[in-house]
Amino acid sequence: MANWTQVSRKMMAKLLSPDTWLPTEMPEYAQGFMYMLGSLTASSFVVLVISGVLLAMNGPASWSYNGAMRFVAATHFWAVQAFFFFMMLHLWRVFFTGAWRGGRGLTWILGAVALLVAIPTAFTGFLINGDLYSQWNAVQAKDGLNALGLGWINLTNSGQMMGMHIVVLPLTLTAVIGLHITLVRMKSVVPPYPEGERASDEDVE
Ligand code: HEM
Repeated sequence: MANWTQVSRKMMAKLLSPDTWLPTEMPEYAQGFMYMLGSLTASSFVVLVISGVLLAMNGPASWSYNGAMRFVAATHFWAVQAFFFFMMLHLWRVFFTGAWRGGRGLTWILGAVALLVAIPTAFTGFLINGDLYSQWNAVQAKDGLNALGLGWINLTNSGQMMGMHIVVLPLTLTAVIGLHITLVRMKSVVPPYPEGERASDEDVE
């Protein structure tokens, strides 16, 4: 039986191999636009993080009164729309190609967790907007969470929401997306269902 050093060596060799991260060939079935949707989601996330860091560095007064920072705020807003749009299309693609097959269950779960973490990340961003809509949402959502016994999450406390939106949730999301993409690289993209027969888990590697 292999000891833990041998197991770790095997895992590290696969994780750090150039074949994992920089393959020179791509399977033919993965060359269509449908297989780009995950990368488009990830690219939107990069735009989100860069514009978000700029916003956080300059503070709320900047994007209210400075034209260039209004552009950054608008970029942040549209990057969110693109992120969720591409994520939903990606979710359809992975659903209809059965992309959990062939030992890709954890990749699927991490994708689902990314979606679940992305929702409160977007919502807390909406709350720190501070306009009347966001105040209304904060009060309603606070009552909802109170009723669930989660009163310690105070959605009307904009300091707490800033911390959630700028630090806790984006860092969590970055880690989850990072692991998701690492697993995709290690397992490679799932082959299509075999034509004309019911697929089983053994058909794919
Ligand atoms: C933050 C959101 C997400 C990002 C950035 C992301 C990124 C990616 C990327 C870049 C790929 C490589 C293949 C491709 O682009 O189609 C991929 C594959 C995959 N994704 Fe996601 N994904 C996200 C959300 C999800 C969700 C919500 C699910 C499902 C619940 C999911 C499940 C999968 C699975 C199972 C694969 C393996 C695909 C295969 O083997 O064909 N992902 N993801």
